[in-house]
Amino acid sequence: MPQHEHIECVQPTVERHGDQLVVLQRVEVALAARTVHHSALPLPRAARAYRAAHEREHRLWDTAYMPLVDPGPIIAQARERGRAVIGANVSTFQMVRGVVRAAENTNRPVLIQLNRSGLSLIGGVDVAALIVKTIADDSEAQIALHLDHADTLDELSLAINAGFGSVMIDGSTLPFQQHLTLAQSAKGLTTWSRLPLEAELGHVAGDEAGVTIGEASWTDPDEAARFVEATGVDWLAVAVGNTHGGPAIGGLQLDRLRSIREAVNITLVLHGASGLSDEELMSAVELGVAKINVGTALHQANAVGIADWLNEHPRDLRGALHEGENKVFESAKSLLTSTWAA
Ligand code: 13P
Ligand code: ZN
Repeated sequence: MPQHEHIECVQPTVERHGDQLVVLQRVEVALAARTVHHSALPLPRAARAYRAAHEREHRLWDTAYMPLVDPGPIIAQARERGRAVIGANVSTFQMVRGVVRAAENTNRPVLIQLNRSGLSLIGGVDVAALIVKTIADDSEAQIALHLDHADTLDELSLAINAGFGSVMIDGSTLPFQQHLTLAQSAKGLTTWSRLPLEAELGHVAGDEAGVTIGEASWTDPDEAARFVEATGVDWLAVAVGNTHGGPAIGGLQLDRLRSIREAVNITLVLHGASGLSDEELMSAVELGVAKINVGTALHQANAVGIADWLNEHPRDLRGALHEGENKVFESAKSLLTSTWAA
């Protein structure tokens, strides 16, 4: 393109020609308008190409169109104010909508999170991203999308390509050196994509679908300092008594949390919040935790809503799904209005 020409806008459009979708990418330049890309693809591939082009162009050319927020600044801001952002684990369309409605209703930001089990239910990272983006775009709420408990670089790349705004690499059951190497590689990937990376040191055990279950091991503050220094991860999930899907084993270890806080200066994340009391969560946030993951409580709320409805109306699936969503909304709303929530 000659130097005096500059791109004014890029507008992908789609036309249907029989069973083919034709993707037209129209580029307006200062001196002339011309079509620079014109291709005919079979329907599903064309639809996907169109969506990707559309999202790319909007991101590049129309910054007002930002359906998902960047979780980095949201969490940094919460940390400055001595609060924590909730990472809400979901597995279905109705759960996404229940959480987004709660965020909108309370005017609080939220990270929608999916782990491997949630992704397999919802239909994978592309479907998840499309659902969350579409619902978020239709809402005033600040919604971010996070990949939870992935343990391979492939999972990370797929989620990043699909439009997730932050990811977690979970090497918490690996030997220290292997874990370090994995987290360093993951950091390479997220630095390139400019996304925050979460890792877990020590191991939060317990019973949560899709999450590696193993013996709990508590985060060692000195190891945490070495790990953060060597990997450059942005957020560190700690194991300080907390478990997935249950109460803290022997209570939350606040002294350990304080020592970790003194050893590292990055955002700390607390997993397994469903089994923790409000007081425990408040104390953790006072000690620097700025992201709190909740999954079991939201799934149980959903299940109770569905089960109760079906008990009364055994054949009414629509009503049951609706009731499940309402219960997720209520549960998320009560979490988001906690005194410690951002
Ligand atoms: P709970 O299921 O115990 O709330 O834990 C959620 C979690 O840690 C997701 O990563
Ligand atoms: Zn977790």
